Amino acid sequence: MKKKVTAATLLAAKNNQQPQVWLTAYDAGAARMAEEAGVDVLLVGDSLGMVNLGYDTTIPVTLDDMILHTAAVVRGRKNAWVVCDLPFGTYQQSKEQALTSCVKVLQQTGCDAIKLEGGANMLNTITFLSQAGIAVVGHVGFTPQSVKKFGNFKQRAATKAESQHIYADALAIAQAGAVAIVLEHIPSDLAEKITTNITIPTVGIGAGAACDAQVLVWHDVLGLSETIPPFVQPYANLRQDAISAIATWAKDVRNQS
Ligand code: KIV
Repeated sequence: MKKKVTAATLLAAKNNQQPQVWLTAYDAGAARMAEEAGVDVLLVGDSLGMVNLGYDTTIPVTLDDMILHTAAVVRGRKNAWVVCDLPFGTYQQSKEQALTSCVKVLQQTGCDAIKLEGGANMLNTITFLSQAGIAVVGHVGFTPQSVKKFGNFKQRAATKAESQHIYADALAIAQAGAVAIVLEHIPSDLAEKITTNITIPTVGIGAGAACDAQVLVWHDVLGLSETIPPFVQPYANLRQDAISAIATWAKDVRNQS
């Protein structure tokens, strides 16, 4: 039987060069399917807002939205490590605000870790949360909650200066006590350099094959999304399959067959 995944499991996997599989999930059924398929970590991303709640960005997602869906994922999982995203506005104000949000999430959902976006600006908060005994996952590169500041969904680290910032931020986040870090939509050579020089597992999304783990959004892997990011290769075409199945059923209903 598969053992329960922990932060220590993920670190050991990095050190043994065993790539880990992370996938987003937003409900209990998805959690069960992902685990049956061998997924190690279930990330309840605030991508929830875009793929399930119909928003254009992740910004409107609330802590209560995240708690509802994370609790469902926890009910569906057996051994996977479950990570909950802290949504926009629930941790940036102060380290105390971040701790209050984490306590609510951890106590009300039973998840294992929280994820927050940001670099140097989040170091004090990550240290504070880590010292409180919380497993924190960092997130640098393209950070979706800053999309209005970036002005687009394009790859980050377009300049040497930004690339150096992301590199320094990633290493500092590990020093501050994070247990893993998501590297989103950055050049693969930068992700490889971070992965080689950092002490915690890197989790790539659109960051090349050298990361210690890979994560994708459920809807993107399964071809359920209407628009798919340029770095994603869907492994199924479930959106079209669902439309065809529903259309066939609708025809049978109308034929009274
Ligand atoms: O919200 C999310 O799903 C994420 C992943 C894309 C890493 O943060």
